[in-house]
Amino acid sequence: MERKLHLGIAAALTTIATLAISAQSLSAQEHSEEAYGYVHESPNYPSEVWTLAAGGRIYDKWWDALDRDEPEGTNPAYPVTGQKSGSTTWRCKECHGWDYMGKDGIYSGGSHYTGIPGIRGADGSSVEAILVTLRNDSHPYTQEMITDVEMARVALFVSRGQVDMTQFLDMENRKVNAGNADRGREIFQTICAACHGFDGRMLDWGDGDEHNFVGTEAVDVPDEVMHKVLSAHPGVQMINLRAFPYSDAIDVMAYAATLPTGE
Ligand code: HEC
Ligand code: HEC
Repeated sequence: MERKLHLGIAAALTTIATLAISAQSLSAQEHSEEAYGYVHESPNYPSEVWTLAAGGRIYDKWWDALDRDEPEGTNPAYPVTGQKSGSTTWRCKECHGWDYMGKDGIYSGGSHYTGIPGIRGADGSSVEAILVTLRNDSHPYTQEMITDVEMARVALFVSRGQVDMTQFLDMENRKVNAGNADRGREIFQTICAACHGFDGRMLDWGDGDEHNFVGTEAVDVPDEVMHKVLSAHPGVQMINLRAFPYSDAIDVMAYAATLPTGE
């Protein structure tokens, strides 16, 4: 069983690598100016860890991750009872949540509620089986939106890249309740601070007076921040901690939740 599983992953990665190389030669010229392709392209021989993070960015917002047009209109598979409309209804996270728990997690109520289950049940499933689901009527993605190679990345993420967010989150009040903040400070000061500053306020993606710093997000939406720490924010040059033990990411969360949230 063990052996069969490993062969399956190796075969999936080889397919991803082969298809990615041919896809890359098409787009290499177009994007060569952009940090040597780091943001939107794939390495010639993608490691499993790279693939999991790349799949995670597709799960987050595939058009930014893959440099595609933002979809127009609401996803026909989005429930009519849901409160969202437009492009966001095409994001995996909008139906399944940042905690991958859908209606059983943080999206069990509020404006993101859809009643759709999470993807935790597919944790450990075969990439092939997940790919079949990702082309069914609940997932009306065309090849122009997400190609088979790219879909295989997100399928690998579903199979082997999910974390159990209940390990470090109090699901009732959506707050970080675990992790070693001292260890998190070491990682934040030496890695995240290069772009976000020592107190996380060098980049601000808020609007006008509404600031949005790392600290703001870690306090308000820690499940989202955890996803981005492990996969990076799609479409920008950000690193991710996927190559390290998940406990490092949890420690970063514990520290990030202590950072300033406003001016
Ligand atoms: C518009 C809402 C919606 C979006 C967006 C969406 N899904 Fe789903 N997904 C569903 C529904 C509904 C189901 C359950 C029915 C089914 O399996 O088709 C489901 C089922 C799944 C399952 C099977 C879960 C299990 O326990 O077996 C996986 C895996 C999955 N989706 C992954 C994804 C991924 C990856 C994306 C983005 C590429 C995505 N979904 C986008 C609605 C959505
Ligand atoms: C190489 C630069 C770089 C590094 C290193 C980096 N980031 Fe980022 N990060 C970015 C950029 C660029 C953005 C996009 C900001 C924007 O949208 O204006 C971003 C966005 C984010 C976001 C918010 C995304 C959103 O809009 O919701 C969070 C949270 C975040 N980073 C956390 C971290 C953490 C934690 C670390 C360390 C583990 C880290 N980043 C390391 C560049 C970096």
